[in-house]
Amino acid sequence: MSILKITGGCSLNGSLRVQGAKNSALPLLAASVLTGGLSVFRNCPRLTDVAATVRILRHIGCRVYEEGDVLYVDASGPIAPEVPDELMRQMRSSVIFLGALLSRCGEASLSLPGGCELGPRPVDLHLMALRALGAEVTEEGGRLCCRAARLTGGRIDLPTPSVGATENAMLAAVLAEGSTVITGAAREPELLDLQDYLRACGALVTGAGSGVIRVCGVRKLHGGEKRILPDRIAAATWLAACAAAGGRVRLYEACPEHMVPVLQALRRMGCTVNTGENLIVLERKGELRSPGPIITRPHPGFPTDAQPPLMAASLKAAGTTVMIETIFESRYRHVPALRSMGADIRTAGKTAVIRGVKTLRAGDLLASDLRGGAALAVAALSAEGESLIRGLEHVERGYEDMAAALTALGAAAERLEE
Ligand code: UD1
Repeated sequence: MSILKITGGCSLNGSLRVQGAKNSALPLLAASVLTGGLSVFRNCPRLTDVAATVRILRHIGCRVYEEGDVLYVDASGPIAPEVPDELMRQMRSSVIFLGALLSRCGEASLSLPGGCELGPRPVDLHLMALRALGAEVTEEGGRLCCRAARLTGGRIDLPTPSVGATENAMLAAVLAEGSTVITGAAREPELLDLQDYLRACGALVTGAGSGVIRVCGVRKLHGGEKRILPDRIAAATWLAACAAAGGRVRLYEACPEHMVPVLQALRRMGCTVNTGENLIVLERKGELRSPGPIITRPHPGFPTDAQPPLMAASLKAAGTTVMIETIFESRYRHVPALRSMGADIRTAGKTAVIRGVKTLRAGDLLASDLRGGAALAVAALSAEGESLIRGLEHVERGYEDMAAALTALGAAAERLEE
């Protein structure tokens, strides 16, 4: 088991390249199955979730190899439409293979990821989207089976802008016969990345990012190339870390346009945030103050994934911060560990109320989930003394070598093996 050791209490000063986005890499890799050709993904982050996706790709018949941060996926051979349970269990977002395999093979069979870290994560909208394009969906022995000789275009009205369901709908529609309109679509930047890649492969898709996506089905796709966009949640985490610890950090290969609500919240806390092309510089000299209420919303609102690190940055901010989590039910699992450090947080349902404290204690902490683990790292940087963060496997699903990243930013951080 690996542990992240952080010695807090000193300010940050450093420069860091932002990794490629996990939430873009995973659907892009799944989409490569559709192409029947060779795809090249640049700026691919080295994460355990990416490794789990690669294992699925290899299992179904793709050849995958990597060179530095470039990942090649050759999907030209025969593809098996089944993903075994043990591979599905390794990654929650593997449900994205449903649309990809159904589209490529005319059938798909996979189990659903089990009990979830953020509360129930239903797939009803994914299935609704696939059924709207003519798929027959059944559940057999705990596995989902989808079949359609060839999908037919149609209208998909999503009542909630689910990122994953929008991605599955796009993957199913690009090879369907006729046109598809997806309304109520998620508008996250990762959807635009997926659209760009699908277009590079010969798909006819427009509208990603606008809420209404139009697809004109084509018979075949060829391989394509894509550079993965910067990870806005990793960037938000490093900025929250500097807000909490004080100092100055410079993030390059970042995309400030994708992070407007997070940057606004950090400015309201008293940080100076300057942006340039692919660049964000944050400086925090004086006292922090509360950012005011933070309500998580689908993009372009405040992202739910940035809520835990921003909460950690608010623990010592003067005043009271109210957070309202509207996307996931169990997204305050990091709160007990933060409280053990001396934080004053009360939660009731969707709401968390944080009253700023003067000091935080270092602790022996356990990461509850990916972003919750990142929140503990942010809090540890502003606590006096040496903290140990266990359960680092959660963090490594989404962050490339967090100890190295924090060290580059001037923190005293080390990865230990138990
Ligand atoms: C993606 C991100 C995740 C992020 C989330 C919200 C990836 C790999 N993961 O997850 O990091 O936190 O978006 O920005 O991109 N819902 C339903 N029925 C469904 C599907 C979703 O009710 O069939 C609900 C969910 O319970 C949730 C909301 O829709 O309340 C949004 O979830 P969704 O956008 O689907 O999240 P993911 O795609 O799983």
